Amino acid sequence: MKTFPGIYRINGKLATLNSSPGYRVYDEKLIYKDGREYRLWDPYRSKLSAAIIKGLEEFPFRENSNVLYLGASSGTTASHIADICPRGLIYCVEFSKRMMRELLPVVMKKRNMIPILADAARPGEYIHRVASIDIIYQDVAQSNQAEILIRNSEKFSPRSAMLIIKSRSINAVKSPKKVFKREMEKLKGKFDILQTIDLRPYDKDHILVNLRVRK
Ligand SMILES: C[S@@+](CC[C@H](N)C(=O)[O-])C[C@H]1O[C@@H](n2cnc3c(N)ncnc32)[C@H](O)[C@@H]1O
Repeated sequence: MKTFPGIYRINGKLATLNSSPGYRVYDEKLIYKDGREYRLWDPYRSKLSAAIIKGLEEFPFRENSNVLYLGASSGTTASHIADICPRGLIYCVEFSKRMMRELLPVVMKKRNMIPILADAARPGEYIHRVASIDIIYQDVAQSNQAEILIRNSEKFSPRSAMLIIKSRSINAVKSPKKVFKREMEKLKGKFDILQTIDLRPYDKDHILVNLRVRK
C-alpha cells in the first residue's frame, strides 16, 4: 500500500488528521498521537479508503485541492477528503433532501465543505456556486454514471477524476465485468484511464476508476 500526502497509517489502519478536533462524522474512532487527533478511515464505509488499501497508485488530492464531490450522501468520504485538503474547498453535491439533512451538521463543523442540494446530472444548475475545480470525485450509483461525469468534466475542466462504478445500478442482470467494460468505453474518449480497482472484499460489485482528464 502506498502512502500519500494527508493520509496516515496508525496501528496498521488508514487515518486522516481531524480538521475538526473532537468531532466524529460516522462512528469512526478518534486516535490521539503526539498531540494530534486522527480519524480512522474505515474501508468498509468509504470506497476511497478501500481503493487505497487495494493498491491505488496515484492520488490526485493535495492540501489546497478544490474538489467537486458528486453524491456526497451524509459526508462519510467527503469529510475525510476535507481533512486531506484543509486549504481547499469540497463542494458536496447531493440530490436527496434526507441525506442533505444528515450532511448539514457535518459541513457546520468541517468549514471547507460546501453543501449543494442539486442533481449532479444538471451541472448547469450549480456551476455559478462553484469556483475552479481540480478534481471530481463521483459516487452517485446511477444508471448514467459515465454520462454524469462527462457532463461535469466538460463544465468544470478538472485535471483529474475518480469515478465509482456500481454495476448493479447500471444493469442488475448483466455480469459486472461486461457492465464495467461498456462504461470504460464511454470514458475513453475524454479521459486517460490510470487505474481500475476492484473494491472487493470491502464493497461488492463496485470498482473505482482513477482518471486523468485529456486536454
Ligand atoms: C453510494 S451513496 C454515496 C456515498 C458517499 N460517496 C460516501 O462514500 O460517503 C450515493 C449518493 O448519491 C446520491 N445521488 C444519486 N444520484 C444523484 C444525483 N443525480 N445527483 C446528486 N446526488 C445523487 C444519493 O442520494 C446517495 O446519497
